[in-house]
Amino acid sequence: MLGVVFTEFFEMVEDKFGYDMVDKLIEQSTSESKGIYTAVGTYHHGEIVEHVVNLHKESGLEIPLLLNTFGRYLHGTFVKNYSSFFENATNAFDFLESIENYIHVEVKKLYPDAELPSFDSERITDNQMVLYYTSARRLGDFAKGLIEQTMEYYEETAEVTMENLEADGSKVKFVITKK
Ligand code: HEM
Repeated sequence: MLGVVFTEFFEMVEDKFGYDMVDKLIEQSTSESKGIYTAVGTYHHGEIVEHVVNLHKESGLEIPLLLNTFGRYLHGTFVKNYSSFFENATNAFDFLESIENYIHVEVKKLYPDAELPSFDSERITDNQMVLYYTSARRLGDFAKGLIEQTMEYYEETAEVTMENLEADGSKVKFVITKK
């Protein structure tokens, strides 16, 4: 997992919980990098899971909520750093459909080490689409946060439902329905 994901995660923790929480998570980390990350480095994705589990224990907030919040936060970072991807789509469904064959393809060119999920999409009607998420990283709750924030970014109100197609979370179905 790219270092930028970790640096943004700790920024979110500092923003929402304060610097003491950042300190605690770094202290509790059993990973090789000891909580020290550079934006251009690459680290095992299990490290982010460890930090999220520790944040859950310290804050009492549920893990799906923490991952969703982080997905929404990272969306803001993408808007700042990769504004052209958002400008190239005029609505949320077009944007979401372009992740697999355009956005993540460009990300992979920039960062060959990036570990990205795959998305299959299906347009059901003008107001409803389905996204199938597949990833060994099992970050469906994080993806849901990114999807919800994408809908908000394009000022489209929608309900997003999530269903595990594999019990371990490696395959997830999202149904996005505009209201
Ligand atoms: C401009 C928009 C986007 C950019 C630039 C972008 C880029 C990235 C980058 C850099 C990573 C980290 C890869 C790594 O750490 O190795 C990532 C991971 C990920 N992205 Fe995107 N992304 C964008 C939009 C989205 C959206 C809207 C979704 C949700 C539908 C999404 C779903 C994910 C997920 C779930 C991961 C975590 C890795 C995994 O689950 O396997 N991305 N993306």
